[in-house]
Amino acid sequence: MRYLILSDIHGNWEALEAVLRDAGSDFDEILCCGDLVGYGADPNRVVDWARSRVKTVVRGNHDKACAGLDGLEWFNPAARDAALWTRQTLTSRNLEFLRRLPQGPVAMDSFQLLHGSPLDEDEYLVSTFAVAQIVDYLERPISFFGHTHLQGGFLCYRNSVKRLDRPHLGETRRIIELEHNPFYLINPGSVGQPRDGDPRAAYLAYDSENRLVEFRRVPYDVRKSQEKIRGAGLPALLADRLELGS
Ligand SMILES: [Fe+2]
Repeated sequence: MRYLILSDIHGNWEALEAVLRDAGSDFDEILCCGDLVGYGADPNRVVDWARSRVKTVVRGNHDKACAGLDGLEWFNPAARDAALWTRQTLTSRNLEFLRRLPQGPVAMDSFQLLHGSPLDEDEYLVSTFAVAQIVDYLERPISFFGHTHLQGGFLCYRNSVKRLDRPHLGETRRIIELEHNPFYLINPGSVGQPRDGDPRAAYLAYDSENRLVEFRRVPYDVRKSQEKIRGAGLPALLADRLELGS
């Protein structure tokens, strides 16, 4: 099977559109590691698309908060304002869809999807130290996760954790051939709000038969997304950060 694996779209329609155009039809299924909404100005458009096109979405912390399943006290002021705006803007059908999203990990055939960590969808797996603490809780040798908005991930051996390579600035592709023994935690990066210093939308393609992961980056119309965010009265910071990729 050939999967498109997306994460952290965050209501950014322009970024999602660019990803889908870039991916073409060279895949069998689309999967999402959470955070369809929050921050961006097109939550309904993104959830409408997800409802009809995405095979499996695991719930992200913003999906949970925007659906009213969680309080907003852990969010910073900009995220909180955006979550409230999103909650008021979503149609009842889309709110219901978010409320029913499964909490990860969700097991697929040979891999699993999760948002933060296998223990807590709100936990950030950023360091090799943090990953070493949760390796024993991985129920599949390959896990796709999101939440950090950092494309890349980790290769976990019995006694060590290493970082995976990812496309550098100026590159659009990076292919990784997966080995059989280690455990992998792989992050497609964020479609709608990258935070790794590269403002291009991030995603990955996974060929499960040939065990190939291809990290991809694609430019999109950042200015249009920014205009929509400002036009909706969302915090200006959420527009500004898109061009920085931070
Ligand atoms: Fe996110």
